[in-house]
Amino acid sequence: MTDLLLTGIGQLVTNDSDRDGLLGLVTDAAVAVKGGRVAWAGPESELLKEFRELPELDCSGRAVIPGFVDSHTHLVFAGDRSDEFAQRLRGDSYEEILAAGGGIHSTVAATRAEKTNLLLNGAVHRAKRMLGMGTTTVEVKSGYGLDLQTEIRMLEVARAISDHLAIDVVRTFLGAHVVPAEYSDDRAGYVRLVIEQMLPAAAGHADFCDVFCDDGAFTVDEAREILTVAARHGMKARLHANQLGHSGGAALAAEIGAASADHLDHVTQDDLARLAATGTAAVVFPSVSLSMRIDPPPARQLWDAGVSVAIATDCNPGTSYVENMQLVVGLATLTAGLTPEEALWAATRGGATALQLADKGHVTPGAVADLLMLEADTYLEIPYRPGTDLVRMVIKDGEPVVS
Ligand code: NIG
Ligand code: FE
Repeated sequence: MTDLLLTGIGQLVTNDSDRDGLLGLVTDAAVAVKGGRVAWAGPESELLKEFRELPELDCSGRAVIPGFVDSHTHLVFAGDRSDEFAQRLRGDSYEEILAAGGGIHSTVAATRAEKTNLLLNGAVHRAKRMLGMGTTTVEVKSGYGLDLQTEIRMLEVARAISDHLAIDVVRTFLGAHVVPAEYSDDRAGYVRLVIEQMLPAAAGHADFCDVFCDDGAFTVDEAREILTVAARHGMKARLHANQLGHSGGAALAAEIGAASADHLDHVTQDDLARLAATGTAAVVFPSVSLSMRIDPPPARQLWDAGVSVAIATDCNPGTSYVENMQLVVGLATLTAGLTPEEALWAATRGGATALQLADKGHVTPGAVADLLMLEADTYLEIPYRPGTDLVRMVIKDGEPVVS
């Protein structure tokens, strides 16, 4: 674990709620890191003597922000769906392609058939690009196995990513992604398989359990049952909710106190109020709307209703093959109505909140020292220059890992 002193920070985003403004900005700042954690952050003029001995990294006036927390991805998969993407651009709908046995089903077939080392290889390559663009923590779901063996294999692959890269992985079991083809005449049988065999096996391999609760996937009652049993196995709930229609998933997330409700493209005022009241975070995906050519997610409405908002890539081969959280920050402002400071918060502290990681997404004493030095003197350049990689250096647990 590394000790480090960052000096000459032109603008520091702390996300410290005890400082002014949402981002708790400090100008002409320094950050002291001891044992991989933030020991002190503030104006450099106030730096205590005890930290002056630490190995110094001069940021030469550049901005420093917390590492991105990408709180929702489907990073482990095999196969290629670029043809399906082109098919959608020609006018076919996601739901039609899925119902015809394509979409998620085609990724399931490819993932089941892939050797474990090649699955890992693909995931590590994607995670490496993510890390290079500033993502220091990534949530990774199963959900392209839909059989006991492949679901567990996916979770093991997800864990192994951090053997190869300095990126933290949070794992989510998504055995209830869709009903696989071989159970198309027996959905109750598949729900039993998930509950009786997959959940006990996934326990210990995942922190969270997710269910795709939507038209063409699982009903509210099925999702409630699966998530209730998952809780007994130590997995906290999150939901793919109200992505394709008014599925009732958002209300279910609030009812069971899920950690997050994700997507939420079709929510009512009542859903917003319920999420705000229970403290369930909302994770929304401006890049999915872009790829699906639909209206942007209701990030503004969620924020105004008092819901804790996160933005994430949803990186997957179908609805958003996007790895870059900087682009997501840009899209959240340019399409989904967040201000630059809200979008940056949602990509960092908001993501950590959705994953219930209290010591990430902020730069305050005790926090994990995951920091990004930008090739810019203000965080504003991120949404201002969408698509440009502005991360000059990635610092993970206090150690420069990419520059
Ligand atoms: O988050 N909506 C469900 N799951 C993914 C898409 C998965 C896929 O199309 O492969 C999503 O959008
Ligand atoms: Fe997703």
